Amino acid sequence: MRSLIDIQDLTPTEIDELISVANDIIANPKKYSEVCRGKKLATLFFEPSTRTRLSFEAAMYELGGNVMSVSSGSSSSASKGESVADTAKTVSCYADIIAMRHPKEGAPLVAAMNASIPVINAGDGGHNHPTQTLTDLLTISREKGRLSDLTVGFCGDLKFGRTVHSLISALSRYTGIKIVLISPEELKVPNYITDDVLDRNGIAYEETTDLITALPSLDILYMTRVQRERFFNEEDYLRLKDSYILTPDKLRHARKDLSIMHPLPRVNEIAVAIDDDPRACYFKQVYNGKIVRMALIMKLLEVSV
Ligand code: CP
Repeated sequence: MRSLIDIQDLTPTEIDELISVANDIIANPKKYSEVCRGKKLATLFFEPSTRTRLSFEAAMYELGGNVMSVSSGSSSSASKGESVADTAKTVSCYADIIAMRHPKEGAPLVAAMNASIPVINAGDGGHNHPTQTLTDLLTISREKGRLSDLTVGFCGDLKFGRTVHSLISALSRYTGIKIVLISPEELKVPNYITDDVLDRNGIAYEETTDLITALPSLDILYMTRVQRERFFNEEDYLRLKDSYILTPDKLRHARKDLSIMHPLPRVNEIAVAIDDDPRACYFKQVYNGKIVRMALIMKLLEVSV
């Protein structure tokens, strides 16, 4: 039995296989419409979500399976003090697979250690978000035709952005990757990313506060929201929240084949006017997220067409 807690739980070969299945699902959706008949997914979300929870649920329905959902901590017995371990043991009696989001880093790992069914980390605090990373890798693969030889700029809240941490970790296993980290000083990536991921894997990277000067070299610009919910004081959030706002005017400095990505939700860091630019990929990411989660559910439930 396999769980997915960290993107490193999957080998690059397994990621290639998931991307290949995802592309086949896009081409032949009917082929997959019954493969999870009789199976149940439990989505346990102790933190707000629109895309991740609904895409997991849509994915399971499109595979012919069923879904049961806890959509907030306050609607479950976690609000009475039940532990993550006991919750995982309990839900294992009802479902075949769990997707869990939790504000505490490591909570999905604790669930996986106590469940008797596969557990998928759907985002844990400011730590990891491996299924967003699968979404991002599928998007990059479809937009660029490769996962290697790319210069990728990450911009915004790189300290608390779990999607950034997971995607950098995933990209560090491909060749010819260059990373440009664009953030205010206070929101730089944690040292464990620069030391244990980038330096250890010999990945070329630079850190800057200047989006405009970084733009011309980028194949991909990965924008992120400043994460209000992770700040200890509101003053710091208000000071930093508008650090980077991508506008059509700034995009004049970018390449014609740039891909603009964002895990969403967006607040104001990408002007709505950019949504119609052919370089905007963030709503394609939303669609790809459902598809790659279909491929992942099939893999972890060991079902095939
Ligand atoms: N990208 C993402 O995780 O979105 P949600 O918080 O809406 O799930």
